[in-house]
Amino acid sequence: MPKARLSMEDGEEIRISGPASGRVVEGRATILGAELGPGEDFRVGRLRSYTIRALKHSTIEVMLEDEARIEKPSPGEEPLEDWVEIADSLISSCELPCTVTVIGPVEAGKTSFTALLANRALARGISPAIVDSDVGQADIGPPAFVSMALVTQWVLWLRDLRPDASRFIGSIEPAPVAGRIISQVADLVGQALRMGAGLVAIDTDGWVQGWSSLEYKADLIRASRADRIVVLGDPLLYRVYDRIFPGRVVYARSPTRAVTRSAQDRRKLRRDNYERFLSEAKVRDIDLSRVSVVGSCLLATVPQNGDLLDSLRREVTDRIVMVGRYPGGYCVAVDSEEPVDQNTLRSLQKRLDREVLVVHTGGFRGVLVGLTGPDGNDYPGVVEALDLEGWKLRVRTAYGGEVRAIIFGRVRLGEEYGETPGRRIWI
Ligand SMILES: Nc1ncnc2c1ncn2[C@@H]1O[C@H](COP(=O)(O)OP(=O)(O)O)[C@@H](O)[C@H]1O
Ligand SMILES: [Mg+2]
Repeated sequence: MPKARLSMEDGEEIRISGPASGRVVEGRATILGAELGPGEDFRVGRLRSYTIRALKHSTIEVMLEDEARIEKPSPGEEPLEDWVEIADSLISSCELPCTVTVIGPVEAGKTSFTALLANRALARGISPAIVDSDVGQADIGPPAFVSMALVTQWVLWLRDLRPDASRFIGSIEPAPVAGRIISQVADLVGQALRMGAGLVAIDTDGWVQGWSSLEYKADLIRASRADRIVVLGDPLLYRVYDRIFPGRVVYARSPTRAVTRSAQDRRKLRRDNYERFLSEAKVRDIDLSRVSVVGSCLLATVPQNGDLLDSLRREVTDRIVMVGRYPGGYCVAVDSEEPVDQNTLRSLQKRLDREVLVVHTGGFRGVLVGLTGPDGNDYPGVVEALDLEGWKLRVRTAYGGEVRAIIFGRVRLGEEYGETPGRRIWI
């Protein structure tokens, strides 16, 4: 493993692309706003790159793994020094406790800036908390969750944090579940403040194109009562937010893209993060009559027996195992993987004059669920099987505590925690 020993002058910067780890041998250096002295070490993960800056003459040791590399950015090329200045003046001008939302496009540096804000708060003796609201590239909790962690030591990667609170959203795309994200994030911010945080930094997803995204983020900012908004990397976005929240928005530029993550890299990052929370999972059976059930029309509608069930069995398929009713519609559960003929479905909707959702019992396998504990937190699990006769659900989960509710998500996991592609899951 190549090892470099670098002698850096005061103010000199180097950019390290991971996977790499390093240590300050002598002197003092800053990385993501953390200030490291002799003997303190740091790590730059795969698919990440960070700039380290000497705060006085320093010696730094770096171990480079695989595709890792070190470069010397030209003066002013990387925004690290600006970022520290922006964060410091933001923190000193904001009345504590202060809530900051970080927004910007994909790969703009939002997550890095959020970590930097937490580090700058720590450097001033303020206890920070981070709320991770990015369901697609979740770092503190698993994908499809929003999570909060109190930060007690320098943080260079949000995945090094353990969630203090997590809420299941159920989707890795924010658009269809924007309302859920907003309400849960507002709740997590409140929890962080109650736990004594002096600064709450909210990291967000990169969905910033189009009017709906603007309304979603503006609602998120208002519901979480953000005192400040940091916009990264997009001057037009900055101007728009400055119109909506005048006097509260600051702009910061993006780092140069030393490492860019492809859609495949992002999927891999999600896979690793499901694994982080599910690799210790064990099978457990949950009695459905004892828990609240959210997100499944098969399990949460009112079963209809008698004539309706019989006539639908004759009309559509004899494999119908249950018909459930809810205001405005019926949920028809079929014990088969075969889709029901579209024409039959349409004529059924017409005859019943209601919407009809068709689900199949095999559709439950692999679905990501959130198990709600008595503390109000949600823990991830994956459905193994549904036992309709015994009214039980078999899930794999690392959570061993009491389950108060099961929330079904829209993500299905296959082999090795990979997401199975496809259309919206109805169960
Ligand atoms: N100070 C920095 N110097 C160099 N590269 C950086 C710095 N901060 C972040 N990066 C890199 O920029 C990329 C995007 O950062 P990230 O914070 O994950 O963006 P986002 O959360 O907006 O998608 C990552 O590869 C990250 O390692
Ligand atoms: Mg991010």
